[in-house]
Amino acid sequence: MKFGTKAIHAGQKADPSTGAVMTPIFQTSTYKQSSPGDFKGYEYSRTGNPTRNALEQNLAALENGKFGICFGSGLAAIDAIIKLLKPGDEVISTNDLYGGTYRIFNEIFEPFGIKFHFVGMDDTDIIESLINKNTQMLWTETPTNPMLNIIDIKKLSRISKSKNLILVVDNTFATPYLQRPLDLGADIVMHSLTKYMGGHSDVVMGAAICKDNNLAQKLYDIQNSCGAVPGPQDSFLVLRGIKTLHLRMQRHCENGSIIANFLKNHPKVEDVYWPGFETHPNHEVAKSQMDGFGGIISFNLRGNKLEDAIKLVSNTQYFTLAESLGGVESLICHPSSMTHAAIPKEEREKTGVVDSLIRLSVGVEDIDDLISDLNTTFDLL
Ligand SMILES: Cc1ncc(COP(=O)(O)O)c(C=O)c1O
Repeated sequence: MKFGTKAIHAGQKADPSTGAVMTPIFQTSTYKQSSPGDFKGYEYSRTGNPTRNALEQNLAALENGKFGICFGSGLAAIDAIIKLLKPGDEVISTNDLYGGTYRIFNEIFEPFGIKFHFVGMDDTDIIESLINKNTQMLWTETPTNPMLNIIDIKKLSRISKSKNLILVVDNTFATPYLQRPLDLGADIVMHSLTKYMGGHSDVVMGAAICKDNNLAQKLYDIQNSCGAVPGPQDSFLVLRGIKTLHLRMQRHCENGSIIANFLKNHPKVEDVYWPGFETHPNHEVAKSQMDGFGGIISFNLRGNKLEDAIKLVSNTQYFTLAESLGGVESLICHPSSMTHAAIPKEEREKTGVVDSLIRLSVGVEDIDDLISDLNTTFDLL
């Protein structure tokens, strides 16, 4: 199956009992057994639920993996993946990553004895210099949130394979429509399904996807033992959202490209971060590992004044001021006071998250309305 066909069909078949075309929402916690231990594949919905399983199989197919494991949020997926480790282990992570990921690493897992190193992952020498006998995992996001840096997944996978490490890629921004990290040598793909995969800003969910049997069994074990599972209704919503992932992503990319170029030529804008620009430092890597550049764009303002950024994000009409991204509607956000407030100012400024940085999640509305919204709001500055 090609991508669009997989998005619609993988893991899903008409319900055998009724013929229902859409996967039913199996809103049940438990399943009848005819005698103890004799059941039809499902015994308890934390362990397995048919609606969730359909989604898990669909995700595995889209990422060219074998196993999908769903969790109650992206962070619950991250939590499960880090629980593959033990006290004393070390993780080398990109330093430009979602604030909540930084927080769970530092505030939750560091006290349990897992050590995290945050580095710019462009520089493989730095990564290699940090690897020691305790290093177990490389963690990266690409494109990164919110600076849209691109990390070369193949390069990281060469390091991880030679040192026997687990390479995890947070593929939330790109989605498997634009980038398939397992094909590039990653061991685990992680998603906040809350974003593009769900696509309609109506559900919070996460997933891990892998090919390796052993890793998958450990992750299923953590899913069942720790219990951060999503419900069947939410699983249904994500399955339904994914059916249009390819169509939505095409439009996100088209609109994203027009808005990125509009911002680049705007006199009140200083820098625009979007991997589709030839001048983007990692444009060549983006071209080689992605099939498009996406609809997330960050930019900062001439003069870098906090009050200008606040005015801009508070006055747009179609770009709604809100956390999150990847829904059909356009969103605008101020990372330093919202999504990345958990990262200390000095740390975030080192990676470019300055006071006037603004992040757009360009939706699939009509582009003329989006441009006119931005033009009108810039005129207020
Ligand atoms: C790149 C990235 N990873 C992980 C997460 C966490 O996902 P969730 O909010 O579904 O827990 C987010 C949320 O914004 C994100 O942007």
